[in-house]
Amino acid sequence: MASKEAESYWNLPPKDENNEDLGSEFTELKKAIIAQFGREHIRANWLQVTRLLVEENNRIAEARSRAWPEVEFADIAAGTVSKEQLKAIKHSGIIVIRNVLPKEQAKGLLTALEAYLEQNKGSILCEYDSQTSCQYVEDNLMIAYPEENPWAYRTFFSPVQNTVRSHPNSLKAQHFLNNLWTGYTDSNTSSVETSASPFPLSYADGLRHRRPGGFSATVRPHIDAGSLDRWGDDTYRRYYERIFGSGDVLTHDPWDVTYRIRAETAKYPGWQQSTVFRAFQGWTSLSHSGGGFNKGALAVYPSVKLGIAYVLLRPFFRPPVNNPDTLEGEVWEWDDDTPGFPGAFRGQSQQLSPSTHPHLELSRTLTVTPQIRPGDAVFWHSDVVHAVDPLLDDNGGESATVLYIPAVPLTQTNLRYIKEQRDAILHRGETPPDFARQQKTYEEGLVGWHGVSDVANVEAQQALGLAKLPGESALFEWANDILGHA
Ligand SMILES: [Fe+2]
Repeated sequence: MASKEAESYWNLPPKDENNEDLGSEFTELKKAIIAQFGREHIRANWLQVTRLLVEENNRIAEARSRAWPEVEFADIAAGTVSKEQLKAIKHSGIIVIRNVLPKEQAKGLLTALEAYLEQNKGSILCEYDSQTSCQYVEDNLMIAYPEENPWAYRTFFSPVQNTVRSHPNSLKAQHFLNNLWTGYTDSNTSSVETSASPFPLSYADGLRHRRPGGFSATVRPHIDAGSLDRWGDDTYRRYYERIFGSGDVLTHDPWDVTYRIRAETAKYPGWQQSTVFRAFQGWTSLSHSGGGFNKGALAVYPSVKLGIAYVLLRPFFRPPVNNPDTLEGEVWEWDDDTPGFPGAFRGQSQQLSPSTHPHLELSRTLTVTPQIRPGDAVFWHSDVVHAVDPLLDDNGGESATVLYIPAVPLTQTNLRYIKEQRDAILHRGETPPDFARQQKTYEEGLVGWHGVSDVANVEAQQALGLAKLPGESALFEWANDILGHA
């Protein structure tokens, strides 16, 4: 159970609840989906999901942090992750990997990172709140927010980030995670568009550095990789076709890349969306956190298939007017004549709260990580509901610091992005493309910044598009051609 403060924060309804007037386009979209998959299938699936959630929520609330599968990095390296662990990862969509970095090295990296931020504090801006634009961004080199007590740092290629991102263990872990997905094909007979390989690419993201003590408005429950896009994009919908139309939601395979790699996650573009396919989102920790609430850690709804199935079916039903609090799926009524997609907004992540998505019972099912130690990493499937604990107690005087490092396989879309990201970074340390849509800045002038010149191991250079990729297939040949390594 979350602390009172965390709970009341997470329980806030998303902006505008589900009242954003999306317009008739979205009423038509609902009608089209119902026509495509059949009313009886959508209704049957809704009943199945709302029924299964009762038991699943009880199981999750009972298990608490034990719902997080934990794997030692050494077992990944040795190929000895057990069948039970793999099953738990695939069911929940989450994983804690212990000791990706040696603990002492991670602690040293935290000290180095803190020194870097301190040395550059004169170059960190700025007033940044939600969608308000920063002023004078060209005069500054790093964005951090909120201004009064920053915890989110948009710095991408600091020496510490380079070290962790390019660490051989980190890349091995990413390869393992990419390989949990199936359906990769990169034979010479398949087209580049449909090809994919679990070969890991390095997506540069920022970091979270929270000082101990107090509350900070952090990240409320949401799912990334688009919101309305999941319904609106034909290919994305295809990935989910068994949730809409099979008559058995449990036949949906969240781990099949076939359509997911081509889904348009930013069909309705905005500044919050990552345009790459992340097999897992994730972070690597340089400090202690988690192990309970008020510890500044991540919390998730640890059931990937049922969670996303419910979110996708939710817009088609509404509670009866005379019994608005009931969770009985049978008595919810069709909502096929409004453009309401609860918690979904153009160009943003999918937002969730107990009021928009009551059947997930988030107040008792959001599950924080077990205690995380320096060098551990946490990953979650891109369909998993997640939030950040708004409270961090004194944490033994230590900050809660994580570097966002996801697992990104080689696909056509991802590789094109990596090329753009590489070209940006080589141009004065320009903000990577997904983040430049919001604000563009340049890291080159920061004290101690040396771009990617310190990325020494060849696998990391390949992951960043700096060196020729090692495969022979048409996909790798195409990739090397795009990257200029032919
Ligand atoms: Fe997120």
